[in-house]
Amino acid sequence: MTGGERRSTLAVESVTMRFGGLRALHEVDLQLHAGEILGLIGPNGSGKTTLVNVITGILAPTEGRVIVNGTVISGRPPHRVARAGVARTFQSVRLFTTLSVRENIELAAVSAGLGRRAARSSADDLMERFGIRHLAEAASGSLAYGQERIVEIARALATGCSFLLLDEPAAGLNDQESEALLERLKGIPDEFDCGMLIIDHDMDLIMRLCHRLHVLNQGQTIASGTADQIRRNPVVIEAYLGSQGAAEAAAAPTTDEEV
Ligand SMILES: Nc1ncnc2c1ncn2[C@@H]1O[C@H](COP(=O)(O)OP(=O)(O)O)[C@@H](O)[C@H]1O
Ligand SMILES: [Mg+2]
Repeated sequence: MTGGERRSTLAVESVTMRFGGLRALHEVDLQLHAGEILGLIGPNGSGKTTLVNVITGILAPTEGRVIVNGTVISGRPPHRVARAGVARTFQSVRLFTTLSVRENIELAAVSAGLGRRAARSSADDLMERFGIRHLAEAASGSLAYGQERIVEIARALATGCSFLLLDEPAAGLNDQESEALLERLKGIPDEFDCGMLIIDHDMDLIMRLCHRLHVLNQGQTIASGTADQIRRNPVVIEAYLGSQGAAEAAAAPTTDEEV
């Protein structure tokens, strides 16, 4: 990574999110830089999706703020956050099922301000990049689950985002599909000059993919650091990875996915 202070940065500053009496996030600080892959991990209910919802404008934080390159974006509606360069995928796939794969991606590019022709060419490039060119005319509702996830990521990138937030992209994928996804995700920050935040319970994927990890538990940051630091952190092992350690935790199937 180069560029030092000039790098695009998304900063979460002391964000607290309350739902009535429930405090889903408590004074969370986090930074995401262009060119890096940050893993956001923690047990179910620890506030990971809530944090992504706050960053993307679906929720306004109760306290604290989100800043992109010096501009406060928290409190803005989602479409204005998107215009500030922040794109996401959802924990459950949300494509326009009656539109073709190409149309889904094109639409995202058009909504980001590209003209029709540029949007089409961007969609073609992205389909090529992600190995889904042969699916261009397929109705998105007819795709296999693993393909849907890839289309969702291509669609998010079609907005020309500076920051890409992926909420459990490997959930529901088999080992082979997860491996293919990992290969496709690796090069994104460099190729698209963006910062990528990824939430997932697949510790093997997370540890191999991410430059840095941020760990939440009950809405609070309990650790942040490199994969090696996190793997050996006793607080993280206690709260999330389990006493057997990261290797076993990574190998164990997740049984606690929400539906
Ligand atoms: N819109 C909401 N209204 C009320 N409670 C919510 C809402 N969204 C999330 N929560 C609660 O906030 C906590 C954190 O949830 P979430 O961010 O989805 O966790 P994670 O993604 O880490 O599994 C949970 O207790 C959840 O039930
Ligand atoms: Mg979640």
